[in-house]
Amino acid sequence: MDAPVVDAVYLKEIEKTRQDLRALISSKSCAPIMLRLAWHDAGTYDAKSKTGGPNGSIRTEDELKHSANAGLEIAVRLCELVKAKHPKITYADLFQLAGVVAVEVTGGPSIEFVPGRKDSFEADEEGLIPDAKQDAQHLRDVFYRMGLTDKDIVALSGGHTLGKAHRERSGFESLAWTTTPMKFNNSYFVELMKRDSQGLLKLPTDKALVEDPKFRPYVELYAKDEDAFFTDYAASHKRLSELGFTPPSWGPPMGVAKSSKILTQSAVGVAVAAVVFIFSYFYGIHRKSSEQDLTL
Ligand code: HEM
Repeated sequence: MDAPVVDAVYLKEIEKTRQDLRALISSKSCAPIMLRLAWHDAGTYDAKSKTGGPNGSIRTEDELKHSANAGLEIAVRLCELVKAKHPKITYADLFQLAGVVAVEVTGGPSIEFVPGRKDSFEADEEGLIPDAKQDAQHLRDVFYRMGLTDKDIVALSGGHTLGKAHRERSGFESLAWTTTPMKFNNSYFVELMKRDSQGLLKLPTDKALVEDPKFRPYVELYAKDEDAFFTDYAASHKRLSELGFTPPSWGPPMGVAKSSKILTQSAVGVAVAAVVFIFSYFYGIHRKSSEQDLTL
């Protein structure tokens, strides 16, 4: 599918979609699963082959069947309610906007959202989302494949400030990472540090963050300094939401067409005014001389 035309009408629709998502996410208390949906749609990106990424493909039956995506059909179904009201908006934009709104309504940082993503109709490959049973090297393999960094890995893992594991979905004990799973704050890192010292970390990838010498300094920083976490998280989340996406420039298709039309119209207007002016000037002189002729 072609990229949507991001003109004034599309932008207005994005704002209405944002409001509807805000209302839906607050009323259904579904921020965690919406954030997980946005992340799993984007997290398939491969920077080398330029495939995957935030392309809406997670809505396909095949991709929803991937074991990493267990439970996400709930989030897709909820997004369909909003899509029905705003059919112009691509699924790819809708899912990423849902992720941004989920962070914002739970008290997290604002994340700049640039619309214009294309939809894909084919499922991305299975096995591209990280596996929580693996180690730091696995996290690097997966996130470096997307073109992301160690800092992105740690900052984005802070998304686990929201929600919990569900035994029937991931097989992990149904436990939240924090005591405030509906609030976006830095408590994931505070808990990581605390549970590390008590020997209570369960997910191997959580352990990897505190044990790896390059990851740990970020965990320590974010546990101490929520502002630093919010700033880095917002930047990493934006990068994740734009993997493989080049935002449409403010030129063609509609912008320039519209402004060049305005320019043409103004040029014609100026030319007409000039002709009228010149004509009335000569007519004036002619009249004056005619009047003079008469009075003479
Ligand atoms: C770093 C690698 C990651 C691993 C291994 C991982 C793994 C997991 C697992 C196993 C679950 C439990 C799913 C369930 O049983 O419902 C989960 C949930 C979740 N993940 Fe991640 N995740 C990772 C990164 C991320 C990132 C980057 C984000 C967002 C920025 C994120 C956001 C979430 C959220 C919000 C939930 C809770 C969902 C809910 O409560 O329904 N995760 N993750």
